[in-house]
Amino acid sequence: MSDLTAIYPPPAEFAAKANVSGMAAYQALYDKAKEHPEEFWGELAEKELHWFEKWNHVFEWNPPFVKWFVGGKTNLSYNCIDRHLNGPRKNKVAILWEGEPGDQRAITYQELHRLVSRFASCLKARGHKAGDRAIIYMPMVPEAAVAMLACARLGIVHSVVFGGFSSEALKARILDLEAQLVITADGGWRRGKEIRLKDAADEAMTGCPSVKDCVVLRRTGSTVPMQEGRDHWWHDLDATASEDCPAEPLDSEHPLYVLYTSGTTGKPKGILHTTAGYALQAAMTMKWVFDLKEEDTYWCTADIGWVTGHSYIVYGPLAAGATTLMYEGAPDFPNFGRFWRIIEKYKVNIFYTSPTAIRALLRQGDQWPNAHDLSSLRLLGSVGEPINPAAWEWYHRVIGKGRCPIVDTWWQTETGAILIAPMPGAVGAKPGSGTLPMPGILPEVVDFNGNPMGDDREGFLIIRRPWPSMLRTLWGDPERYKEAYWSRIPGIYFTGDAARRDKDGYFWILGRVDDVMNVSGHRLSTMEVESALVRHPAVAEAAVVGKPHEVTGQAVCAFVSLKKGDHDTAALGKELRQWVAHEIGAFARPEEIRFSEALPKTRSGKIMRRLLRDIVNNNTVSGDVTTLEDMNVLTRLAAQHDEG
Ligand code: WT7
Repeated sequence: MSDLTAIYPPPAEFAAKANVSGMAAYQALYDKAKEHPEEFWGELAEKELHWFEKWNHVFEWNPPFVKWFVGGKTNLSYNCIDRHLNGPRKNKVAILWEGEPGDQRAITYQELHRLVSRFASCLKARGHKAGDRAIIYMPMVPEAAVAMLACARLGIVHSVVFGGFSSEALKARILDLEAQLVITADGGWRRGKEIRLKDAADEAMTGCPSVKDCVVLRRTGSTVPMQEGRDHWWHDLDATASEDCPAEPLDSEHPLYVLYTSGTTGKPKGILHTTAGYALQAAMTMKWVFDLKEEDTYWCTADIGWVTGHSYIVYGPLAAGATTLMYEGAPDFPNFGRFWRIIEKYKVNIFYTSPTAIRALLRQGDQWPNAHDLSSLRLLGSVGEPINPAAWEWYHRVIGKGRCPIVDTWWQTETGAILIAPMPGAVGAKPGSGTLPMPGILPEVVDFNGNPMGDDREGFLIIRRPWPSMLRTLWGDPERYKEAYWSRIPGIYFTGDAARRDKDGYFWILGRVDDVMNVSGHRLSTMEVESALVRHPAVAEAAVVGKPHEVTGQAVCAFVSLKKGDHDTAALGKELRQWVAHEIGAFARPEEIRFSEALPKTRSGKIMRRLLRDIVNNNTVSGDVTTLEDMNVLTRLAAQHDEG
């Protein structure tokens, strides 16, 4: 990646109609937010959100804790639904859905209001109320969004757990939240097979005394055991539901959801987002980054189990009054044309996906997209990992036909909304760069001591000021919150990413600087996989590193030393991969397991992951090895690869 890469300026035709058109317009927004943040955000909040009671002041910053729109009362479910019912959006499609088997639904804002009110009234009738916790473990069906919006309507703190997570991972989350309610389904469809969610939920719920109710949606129609008293079919509850269930006026800082993500230890972090600031920034970035227009059909291919699904399938698009498309299944089912077929069929205008998906589809050849009419597309987006120039170029040429700007959006579960990305009618693209910050965001590249680096120098990416959709804390662990984000450089938000800024002020994200891997745009901690491996009875020690992978960006590579005894390593390799899938989820399954009698350690016994990274990346070891206990270990590990 270099600054010599051509800039792709906003196409004139696009810029002419854009929500933010031209650099001067972007700069004016940016400057105003920087110089007068209270005025900037206060005006937007007043205009863009419904308030039951207005706030007293815009923000209150007691580092590292922030409050936005202090003293105000609002409700995100109201902002996503009710607010649109008195105007032309009443009968506009809110959620356009396609199931993997090909079933379809188009749910208008009015209909969404009915579904959410009915479901919320059922939860309310069963005694669930503001401040209680719910786990949502569902396939990509409209009811998943309905469940989220029903919780938000009542102020129930919800945590969506990605359907690909195992029962073990689900259980850990139920326990951490002490959730009273679990909302799930019999199963969902993935590559023509049923993912049996209720079975996993049953396994998880044993040993979770907090769970009083489990609501089960019938999706696949397969037989699932129902536990008397605890389990209820969604349709049974719905049969007697009331349609009158007004949104609760909630404090601006009322906890909205907790989303677990990997940190540097084995225990996932419960990222807490609150109500008003999150709502505002999710909605504004829809307009700024996706240039949302009233008539757009917008499709984000993420799963609602990740933050992208929260902010850019459900909350952001609905708060902005969009038509948001949701697809249940896999991109390669029944064949590699599925995404392009969906774009053609629903005349999708804005398409937002991950570099991993782009690379996987690129490899299948141009005949798949070329078999479909993609002329409805006007804007493309990328998220989750750096996009390599070859994938960018293909996305631009073959999918966007050279007409559509690409927005490369940098953000994190913690940031709640996109922080660095081009406004496509204003800021030109350089393939691989997230370009410029959003209004109100002050990112910088700094050294170990927090001193700004010059242009084009690599350093840590930090954010100087709190923003409305920032995480507020880690659920039940404010100390870890301080430690993880605010202590590396005291009082400054530490992203965990390395970056550089070029002479044009464009940001280039270079990847994580901590022990966090990025596999298919999903965050995974090395420690989490290591702890799963050492729970296996045959394993003595494990060290995990990410290795470069052509499609998924990184793949999990595990170095394992076994306890004494006779082992069939070929069989055990398979078993351990399966074990990790069971302990965490299939997406965490190591691609490679290398057995070794010992792992490289410092004299104080710390595993030297840096050396293992060298081995998987270059098959050589560079840098300082003077603290290494036994050099032979390294030689053997490197040699093993040559044999294999
Ligand atoms: C990490 C956050 C943002 C939602 C999905 C992932 C990496 C994210 C980009 C991008 C380069 C990116 C960073 C970040 N990342 N977007 N456009 N270019 N890297 O959310 O699981 O919280 O992961 O993903 O390393 O820190 P997440």
